[in-house]
Parts: sequence; C-alpha cells; structure tokens
Amino acid sequence: MLETKIAEVRLRNPTVLASGILGTSAAILKRVASSGAGAVTMKSIGPEPRAGHNNPTVLSYGPGLINAVGLPTPGYKNMSEEWEQLADLEVPVIASIYGGSIDEFVEVARFVAGKKPAIIELNISCPNTKKHGQVFGFEPDVAGEVVSRVKGVTEEIPVMPKLSPNTPKLKEVAKACEDAGADAISAINTVGPGMVIDVNTAKPVLDFKTGGLSGPAIKPIAVRCVYDIYEVVDLPIVGIGGVSTGRDAAEMIMAGAVSVGIGSGVYYRGIDVFKKVCDELEGFMEERGYKTIKEMVGLAHE
Ligand SMILES: Cc1cc2nc3c(=O)[nH]c(=O)nc-3n(C[C@H](O)[C@H](O)[C@H](O)COP(=O)(O)O)c2cc1C
Repeated sequence: MLETKIAEVRLRNPTVLASGILGTSAAILKRVASSGAGAVTMKSIGPEPRAGHNNPTVLSYGPGLINAVGLPTPGYKNMSEEWEQLADLEVPVIASIYGGSIDEFVEVARFVAGKKPAIIELNISCPNTKKHGQVFGFEPDVAGEVVSRVKGVTEEIPVMPKLSPNTPKLKEVAKACEDAGADAISAINTVGPGMVIDVNTAKPVLDFKTGGLSGPAIKPIAVRCVYDIYEVVDLPIVGIGGVSTGRDAAEMIMAGAVSVGIGSGVYYRGIDVFKKVCDELEGFMEERGYKTIKEMVGLAHE
C-alpha cells in the first residue's frame, strides 16, 4: 500500500530521512532504516573537511527549529569506512553533496557516484553559509548548469537537486533543473534566514546569528512550494518541510510529492517517527479508501 518510487528507485514506504538531521554515520543511518524509514539521506558532503559553525547551532523556538550548523563535513575523501558500511543498508541511500563552485560540485559528484548511492541529492539551497545558498539555487541558469555538469559525471545514478523556498524564481529554477536533466527534485531546504534574540542577554541566540527555519512552522510554505513545482515539471518530487504525522505526509503527497522527507520530525517524535508516520498514513488511506500512494499524488491539483 505504501510503496512508492523516486525516479526508478523503489521505496517500501514514502518516508525519507532528510539530510543533515542525523549526520553521515553509517551506524545512525542503519538505525533509521531499521526504525522504518523508506530511504535515508546522508548529511551533505563537501569537497574539503569543514568544521561548521560554533555552538549554539540549533534551537527549538516553539513552532519550529532554527539552525545554523554551517555544513560541517569530513570531506568526501575522509569517509571510506562509512561508505563501506553503507553499502549493505536495507533501504536506498541518498548521498547529499555540495560544493563552493560548480567545479567542486562536479568533483564531489564524480567521487560519490563511484560509491553507488541510490540517488545523488544536490544541496543548492543551504541558507547557512556566507552566501546563503543563493549562488546555485536562486537563479534558474546557475541551478541548471550545476545539474547538467553533475549529470555529465554520474552515469546511471539519478540526480536530485534540492530547491530553496527562498527564491522568488522557484518555478523557473525547477523547470531549469528538469531541462538540464534532473531525475527528481527535492524541496524544500530550510526557510530564512531567520533570527531569534535572547532578550535576557540582548543577543541573537545562535552563534552565527541567523539560521534556517524548519519544523511545523514551515509546513505551509513547503506544501505550497511542492504544489508550485508539481505544476511546472514532470519529475518525481520528494516533499520536505514540517512533516511529522501521517496527515502531514498525506498533505505533501496531495500537493504533488511521491515521498516525504522528515528532518525536524525526528526531534519532535523521536527516531520512531518514520514508523509512526507510516502507520498513521496507512490508517488515513484505509479510512478514505486510497489503495496506493500513486493515486494520492497531486490530488490537490484536480
Ligand atoms: C540541524 C539541521 C541540519 C541540516 N543540515 C542539512 C544538510 O546538511 N543538507 C541539506 O540539504 N539540508 C539540511 N537541513 C535541512 C533539512 O534536510 C530539511 O530540508 C529542512 O529541515 C526542512 O525539513 P523539516 O521541517 O522536516 O526539518 C538541515 C536541517 C536541520 C534542522
């Protein structure tokens, strides 16, 4: 009942661990898989080791989380053990990558493709670096160029750019990615940047001062973005942003997603969130007479 597909990659259910929430460690990703996720995404991997920002980097501000982790990464060359252990994961592994230039995206993609992940996700949308991700994910021509250059080195592995809600050109960016050969699209990365000030100290709480918003507060933005993307492209969409219940998942699927990413939901409902969302989604489908995920995809457009 819950099976779905991202490009040609089969998932036993539509829940996907979103990038960055639990790192790149194979042990943790394995735990997520055995907790019921349909697929797992690794934290974004960059070209060189990078420390990320100083603490505090993540804060729950009530209706959501704000984070400026700053893309810490061991660098793709320093992960040989992880790659080996990830090879026998029971669910598809999505490798998320980023670069500081298009050449760096290509360099990381070439290496990562050799490790045969199920899908390569391109993080062209992180708001927590100095340039706030706009360099790659804000302009259709630049986003398209990243996709077409990466496609040139990834052979049969599907490529999935992850889009930002923070560009007014979201539809154009999505279309440019499709025209450049993307096999799927994921959306959204965090919203922002935002800021939370501690009135006792009169200082921003995050050391980086600003951060991206996630969790329930951003779900309506994520649903709208998925809805907009579905209108302009003919690609499978992984809907991410504020999903932590089966009903949230149903909403995202009705907007046009074939599967749902869950990030902050792990914080709100624990590592079992994947199983909980699946059970709730299945209950909802039974109650309403839906037999497959496919028949729910994009229903809000009809
Ligand atoms: C602490 C934290 C770290 C994140 N790191 C990454 C990352 O490395 N790469 C990426 O593409 N997205 C990253 N994200 C964004 C999430 O993958 C997701 O797109 C976003 O949080 C919205 O989904 P959610 O509301 O389910 O959390 C991060 C989010 C959080 C909260």
